[in-house]
Order: sequence, then C-alpha cells, then structure tokens
Amino acid sequence: MSTTDTRKRIEELRSELNRHNFLYYIKAAPEISDRDYDALYAELEELEAGHPELITPDSPTQRVGGAPIDGFSQITHTVPMMSLANTYSPDELLEFDTRTRKLMEDRAFTYALEPKIDGVAVSLRYENGILALGSTRGDGRKGDDITSNIKTIKSVPLKLATSQPPDILEVRGEVYIPSEAFRLLNEQRELEGQEPFANPRNAAAGSLKLLDPRTVAERPLDAVFYAVGETSEEPFATHEELTSCLSGLGLKTVPRLWVCDSMGEVLEALNELKDLRHAFDFEIDGGVIKVNEREFYGQLGSTAKSPRWAIAYKYEPERTETVIKAITVQVGRTGALTPVAEFEPVPLAGSTISRATLHNADEIERKDIRIGDTVVIEKAGEVIPAVVSVNVAARKGIEKVFVMPQACPICGERATRREGEAAYRCENLQCPAQIKRWIRHFASRGAMDIEGLGNVLVDQLVDSCGVKDPADLYDLKQEDVAALDRMAVKSAKNLIDGLEASKGRDFWRLIFGLGIRHVGARSAQTLEDAFEDIDALASASNDQLTGIQDIGPIVAESIAHWFRGPGSSELIRRLKAQGINTRRLKSAAPSGDLFAGKTFVLTGTLPSMTRDEAGGKIRAQGGKVTSSVSKKTSFVLAGSEAGSKLAKAEKLGVRVIDEAQFLAMIGE
Ligand code: IVH
Repeated sequence: MSTTDTRKRIEELRSELNRHNFLYYIKAAPEISDRDYDALYAELEELEAGHPELITPDSPTQRVGGAPIDGFSQITHTVPMMSLANTYSPDELLEFDTRTRKLMEDRAFTYALEPKIDGVAVSLRYENGILALGSTRGDGRKGDDITSNIKTIKSVPLKLATSQPPDILEVRGEVYIPSEAFRLLNEQRELEGQEPFANPRNAAAGSLKLLDPRTVAERPLDAVFYAVGETSEEPFATHEELTSCLSGLGLKTVPRLWVCDSMGEVLEALNELKDLRHAFDFEIDGGVIKVNEREFYGQLGSTAKSPRWAIAYKYEPERTETVIKAITVQVGRTGALTPVAEFEPVPLAGSTISRATLHNADEIERKDIRIGDTVVIEKAGEVIPAVVSVNVAARKGIEKVFVMPQACPICGERATRREGEAAYRCENLQCPAQIKRWIRHFASRGAMDIEGLGNVLVDQLVDSCGVKDPADLYDLKQEDVAALDRMAVKSAKNLIDGLEASKGRDFWRLIFGLGIRHVGARSAQTLEDAFEDIDALASASNDQLTGIQDIGPIVAESIAHWFRGPGSSELIRRLKAQGINTRRLKSAAPSGDLFAGKTFVLTGTLPSMTRDEAGGKIRAQGGKVTSSVSKKTSFVLAGSEAGSKLAKAEKLGVRVIDEAQFLAMIGE
C-alpha cells in the first residue's frame, strides 16, 4: 500500500471504530459482532505498527497508555468546579424557588430536572475536538491530571463526533461503575483474594487514582456528562439544549431530563424519578434541579461554593426493618470465616433482601446484633445490603447472642485468628469450601474458560466425585460425571469436551487459574511475558520476580509462597502429565514467512478451529488478517455459513480457500 493509501485506510478504520464504539457503548445498539470489531482494530494496530509516524493521540489504539506513572500532576481549572447546595426537604425546594423568582425579577423561566449521579466528578477538556485533558475536581480549583485513566473509558470519545469542533469545550460529569459490573468486579476481587469495594462510587474513585492505566482499563468504568466548564463558544440557550448538544457530540448524557414550568411540577417529576431510580445503570442519590435558561446564570450568580441557579434534592437512603432468622458462617477462598445475617426476606430499593454480611465478630459485638433481633437495614451505596442498627425496643428477651465458631463450619478444622486481622480463618487448604471456590475460579471465563462447568456442577464434583484440585478435574471420566444427580449424558459429554478444549489455553490463564493470592489476570500475563514455562516461574527467585515491572514485593512473596506450598509441585506434575499447556505459546517473532505480504479475510465457521486460531497460524507465518474483502485481499478463508464476504470475494475474483486447503498450505 502506498503511504497515501495507508493514511486513508487508517483514517477510515479510526472513524469506523469510533462509530462502532459509540453504537456499542453509548447507544447499546451494536451493528457488528465483537469479532468483526476486533478484526478492524487489529488491522488498525498493524497499519500503525508499520507507520508509527501516523499514530495520533485520538486513535482508538491509544486508549490504554504505556507504563505506570509515579504520580499525577496538578492542573488548575480555568472555570472552577463548584458543588451544589443540597436538601432533603420539599419545603426547602419551595424556598429555593421563591429566592430564585425574586432574583429573576418576575422574568419567565423553566426548570430542568435530571438524576443526580452518585459517581466521581471529572472535567474533560477537548481542544479542537480532541480530548486533551481529563481531571478530577480536587478542591474545585485545582485537580489531578488523570487523562491517561480517562482515556481508558470506552464510552468517552477521544474525538468529538463533529466535523466543526469548537476550539475549546470542557465537559463535566461523573465517572461511575455500572451496578451489575460492580457486582461482578467485587466477585472477581474476592476470588483473587482481594478486599471487595464498599460501593460503586468507592470503586470508581479508587480506579481513577490508580497509577497504571492498564489496570484502570480492566475496571468497568463509564461516564455521563451534564455540564460544561470553559467553552470558546456559548452555543447553548438552555440546559436541555446543552444536554442534547453533548449527546450529539458523542458524549453520554443523562437518560432522562424533565423540563418543568413550576416547582410544583418539579416535585411531581422528582416522584417519578424516585420510582425510576433503580432503572438506571448508575446509582442515583437524588435529582438536580437547574434553571433551564442559561442566559440567567450570570445574573443569578453563585455563593462561595455553589451556583444559585441549581440545587440538589437528595433522597433519604431507603431503609427497612426485618428479622434476623439466623447467623450463618461462610468460608471464602482465602479461608476467611464471614458471619452472614439471614433475614426474613424484605423488599428494599428495587430488590428482595434475604441476607447481608456482618463482616466479622467485632462488628457483631459492636452493634450488639443477636439472632432473632429486628434490625434496620439499608443498601450501602445503594447496592450492598447492610445492617445499620438493632431495634432494641422490639426485643422480646428470646434473642440469642451469636458466638463465632472455633472451627470451620465446612471441614471442622480449627479456625485461627492471625495477629492484627479481624477475621477468623480456616487454614485447611483441603477444606471443601475453599476447594469449590478455587475450582470455580480455575474454570471461570477469565481463567481456563472451561465450558460446561458451572457452579452447581463444581459443588457436585467436589462433594460427590472427590475433586480436590484442578488436576482432579482432568482425571474425571464421562461415566463418573453422568452418574451424578440430575446429570444428562449430554452435559457430561459437554464437560469432558470442555475440559479437553481447555488443555491448550494460554499459559497465563493457567497461572491465573492457580489462584495465587494477589495474582490477577493482568499479573498473570506479565508473568507469562517474563517466564517461558511453569518450571521457570516455579523456580524464580524473589529478586527475579520483583525485578519484573508491575510485580511488587507482596505479589512476589505470594507467588514464591504458593510454589513452596505443600502439593504445588505435585499438582504441576499432574497437570503436565494430563497434557495441560504449561508454556508460553505466542512467540515474539513469526515462525515462518510463508504468508509475508499476504492478506487474509476469515469468514464463516471453520470445521476444526476457531477463526482466532486460524488467524494465529496466519500471523505466525508473517501474514495479516483483515476484516473486509478488497481487491488487495490475497485469500478469503471461508467456512460454512460464510455470507457477504464470500460473495464479495467471488465478485472481485479473490481466491477463496477452505480449511483443508489452508492446512495443506501450511503443511499441517
Ligand atoms: S451540575 C456547578 N448535575 O453532584 C455545579 N452535578 O453534590 C455543576 N452531580 O458537584 C454540577 N449529578 O459532582 C450536576 N446531574 C448532575 C449531577 C451532578 C451528580 C454531582 C456533581 C456535583 C455534586 C454535588
């Protein structure tokens, strides 16, 4: 390709990728499959790798920056980031209305009401349409430059969707973690032996403070925008118009906005918003009422902290009472015993609550929580149910004081309390509770991705088939599995097939699946880059480990501890004997140059391999894989149900091959 063609294709790919990104992350209406998106992305990456001079900061490949940084630099907000006056009382809203009307000297105006998002305030500065700076609020005047972290948020456009961008546009909004993603994030953290986040806002705030953008990129952050800071033009007459303009520029904005003629209407709309509060993917803690006509903002002015043209109305956290029927004890993967209150189920804030963690014995004692107590519960940060207090007046004298068991409720081994820790732990690595969580983690999609092995089946395999570690899984016979309760022959076969397919997974997936404390997916990938195989990793010295970028002393110690532990070397010996891949698969350089200069397009379902695998083989021979067929395409590798790409290849006279021909070409 000539440089002009490359430049053109790069631009085409960027705008296509931006469009698909917008459709996927903002409109939630994708037009292409993830796979096709990945192929476009891979093509762009490849073109940019060949032409680094053509890489621009707004390229979709530049979302995840390079190395971690030492700290954030401070920036000064040209327009301060103010906060809002807030109230819990409708009467105070009426007072706000009276004050505003007085200041407006009887001129007509309307109010805009929108959700108050419980996230982390940020400001993004676009210069000539390109994201130039992302910052935190800080003290309102000075904040941190968190540009590299903001860029990892997929719904944030790196380039505004307009051909005539303003010189400067600062947009302000909230970064948040969607409720469902938050739940999964916490589950994953617990599996990895990390402390779960208290609520989505803490998780979002903590994520934005991370110094390694690659870790930030793994956090499911999202952002919504509702205000502007510095602008080179003042194109918005009303807040409503501001919102729709931001939306037109490709930014995510509030999903509902009410324009009201009076405070009476605002109060009605607030009731409607309250009913909707659990329908959004972010947490809301109230509504924000703004004078809609922006021309009056100057005249209304502001106090030291907040503008006089807006006020936040906050909902009281929803609380309810229920009875603790029992206190049970759960055993985590790290062996921590956690007391859990089992409630008489009650509806609260959009779901039915039947249990809540009581954290540890100290917490129970501090709040004097007893079995049989009537307690007040709320959702911390709107998600995680928690016991706020005991309704002591409701006691009948039959409530029972809870005593933390001295033994693990699952295996009966003595539980111990380590110095300085609040939790009692079961130190027995053979405890079925720990084994179950380990196997679930090993089989999970993020680790060995064993199809056909769900949580219920894991429990059955541990309880009835004597599975004690991952290697035992690979010893399972189809007939053993088929003999389990409610197990269909087909599901048993699925499991055996799933296990077989997992044997060839990437080495880092195995490292991650071993469940070494503090070793997440990202560290596992780093370890794969540093060690060729499991033996090299197992025998690595502490210095070698800490010498790796991103592996700190705690992680290094945890790795060494795991490999020294009883049974580790035997487990690895067995996994190897069972044919599980324990080496780095990808080689840095292609192993051959059979396809040098050739471009492939893959389409349809191949009989014996996935398109990813075929792509790997093509790249290993120096070839390229792209997503769309053109005259320059060398081969179209087509499987069954190949659609328009096959037709296009035939029309353009591009050579079409099937899997057998392809395998013959590479001599397999
Ligand atoms: S407008 C000049 N609109 O709540 C103030 N703020 O408690 C501009 N917030 O500082 C803010 N949702 O971080 C506005 N729809 C919304 C909001 C919102 C959440 C945050 C914002 C603000 C804080 C005040």
